[in-house]
Amino acid sequence: MITEMLHSLLVGCPRWGRRLGLAREHVAISARYRRVGRAWAPHLTACRTAILEAAQMCARRRCVVIVGAGSCLDVPVAELAQQFEMVVLADVVTSLPARRFARRFPGRVRLVTWDATGALERLVAAKCGTPAEIAACFEEAEPGALPGGAPDLVVSANCLSQLGLVVDTLAPGCTDDERWRGVAAAARRHLAWLDGQPGVRLLLADVARLEVPPAGAEGLREDCLEGLGLREPDRRWRWDIAPIPEYSARVHRVHEVGAWLAGPDAGFCAR
Ligand SMILES: C[S@@+](CC[C@H](N)C(=O)[O-])C[C@H]1O[C@@H](n2cnc3c(N)ncnc32)[C@H](O)[C@@H]1O
Repeated sequence: MITEMLHSLLVGCPRWGRRLGLAREHVAISARYRRVGRAWAPHLTACRTAILEAAQMCARRRCVVIVGAGSCLDVPVAELAQQFEMVVLADVVTSLPARRFARRFPGRVRLVTWDATGALERLVAAKCGTPAEIAACFEEAEPGALPGGAPDLVVSANCLSQLGLVVDTLAPGCTDDERWRGVAAAARRHLAWLDGQPGVRLLLADVARLEVPPAGAEGLREDCLEGLGLREPDRRWRWDIAPIPEYSARVHRVHEVGAWLAGPDAGFCAR
């Protein structure tokens, strides 16, 4: 507990991000990684491999932007820093590992405090709002330009399903339906933003959340992408995010994760 409080103080996060619990969430993810990181290894390797494949598709390698960089567990930062003139690690939270990468590759790895929704600071300042108003704010928000000019590669690194979760904090007591509307609005806006970026784009995102009993029988499955209009991912795999007893004594929590690769003239939406 004390370690986690200290960790939370050490990570960089604007006040509005702390109010929304994003620093706390970051610390919780890091602590879970310390406990069950071995089970995450195949997922992290699959993400890093997909990112390096996307890098290979780039005609020019001046700037790569990682959105939701967090602790860079799923990002091959050193390899990217050898290939690109600039690696931009963008997140609301500035993690300790990201700071270490910036020190190790001065001038080449750049840390940016950046809200991918473009709405969070405004939503916190407004103090309240109905779930419908929050969803509307996500739909209209403009995340703004990233430093580094037009990127040659943009990676959305496992943050799509996280973007709208702040609805719980902004509108406590909201129903599951209201929460989903906020999550979907933030996700749709992010996909439109990503689709509008120049260069190669890679989306790494949860496809579904599963509860899997130990015998391996099919358990509960919750679709994370319903109504977002995404085409089939180019690749998918399972992430053993919380093996028993991390999340429950009865079931493993597993995420099905997808990778969508889009060259400069392609997109992510079903046609
Ligand atoms: C599941 S973690 C991704 C893990 C990260 N790629 C890593 O390897 O450590 C989701 C990340 O999205 C970030 N995030 C959540 N909301 C965000 C927002 N509105 N803008 C930018 N990043 C956000 C979180 O801070 C967190 O680091």
